[in-house]
Amino acid sequence: MNPKIILVTGGAGYIGSHTCVALAQAGYRPLILDNFSNSKTSVIDRLATLMGDPPLCVEGDIRDAALIKKIFHDYCCESVIHFAGLKAVGESVKQPLQYYDVNVAGSLTLFAVMKDFGIKHLIFSSSAAVYGEEKEPPLHEESLLHPVNPYGRSKLMVEEILEDLYHMDSHSSIVRLRYFNPIGAHPSGLIGETPSGVPNNLMPYITQVAVGIRKKLSIFGNDYPTVDGTAVRDYIHVMDLAEGHVAALQKTERSSGLSTLNLGTGRGSSVLELVEAFEAATGKNIPYEIVARRAGDVAACWADPSAAQKQLGWGATRDLRTMCADSWNWQLRASFII
Ligand SMILES: NC(=O)c1ccc[n+]([C@@H]2O[C@H](COP(=O)([O-])OP(=O)(O)OC[C@H]3O[C@@H](n4cnc5c(N)ncnc54)[C@H](O)[C@@H]3O)[C@@H](O)[C@H]2O)c1
Repeated sequence: MNPKIILVTGGAGYIGSHTCVALAQAGYRPLILDNFSNSKTSVIDRLATLMGDPPLCVEGDIRDAALIKKIFHDYCCESVIHFAGLKAVGESVKQPLQYYDVNVAGSLTLFAVMKDFGIKHLIFSSSAAVYGEEKEPPLHEESLLHPVNPYGRSKLMVEEILEDLYHMDSHSSIVRLRYFNPIGAHPSGLIGETPSGVPNNLMPYITQVAVGIRKKLSIFGNDYPTVDGTAVRDYIHVMDLAEGHVAALQKTERSSGLSTLNLGTGRGSSVLELVEAFEAATGKNIPYEIVARRAGDVAACWADPSAAQKQLGWGATRDLRTMCADSWNWQLRASFII
């Protein structure tokens, strides 16, 4: 039997590329649609090495309805995993129109063409950013939704659109996945996160300090009410996240419905704990300085992942040490291969 083709929008990006590997391992054939605005075309060759076969790939924009129609016309595709979007919180404050255009209008374009072609299975990349400043972790799917920036609002808008679409067609099967803080890389060191410019996220910053691209790490605040005063987050290995998508896809194939699920480990680690774990895993020293808190950062945020465990039979298995070792392995190779 031919493997099922899964359209993976944004499949050349950080989480999308790892998910393509997990999909191929599970017997699916990913078809990437990506405009490479935040990824490199060379990832396709590296994915071919990891998957045994090159992934199908179309270069283009999710806002291009004609192109998406052509894809569904050319390929028999039952399911879509929708990663494509913009993700930098700070940038979203400066360029809200661009964020709503790509993240919301782009999703609408995709969903409209899916409807025309009768494609009913969808996994959507949402974010813990939809929760906003909830005071008491862990965050449950029912926790207060109050995004505090355009990025988070764009994700919540798409979640709500999907709710309406499900009510329109209860034969559809939609899973909205709220990711916490993905770090790490494929253990091969062939794919990983490639931030352009100064990294917004902690782990790429740490690895760039370790490799000598940056002098020291700035830690934003050490006076939070946490274990050591630094902010606490739920770091999850990107391969665990990728495998969560395969489990979600299999759920859409089993039954119709609309689900919203946190993908996190359920454990919080402070910035200093992550730095220590990185130093222990790699033997590298990470010089740092404490600077003022960053506006909009919450003290602590971690997931209650029990709904995903129950509904998907999925749970994160990789520990902080593995996340750090794999991030470092990728950083060491990245400058040679991208
Ligand atoms: N990385 C995180 O910390 C995180 C956390 C929560 C949610 N998410 C969400 O998960 C998804 C994937 O995140 P990621 O970290 O892999 O990001 P990424 O930037 O590495 O990947 C996104 C991919 O989408 C592509 N893309 C962007 N705009 C596009 C467009 N208009 N048309 C076609 N392709 C386009 C980019 O080129 C890139 O390859 C995003 O929707 C993001 O908002 C990410």
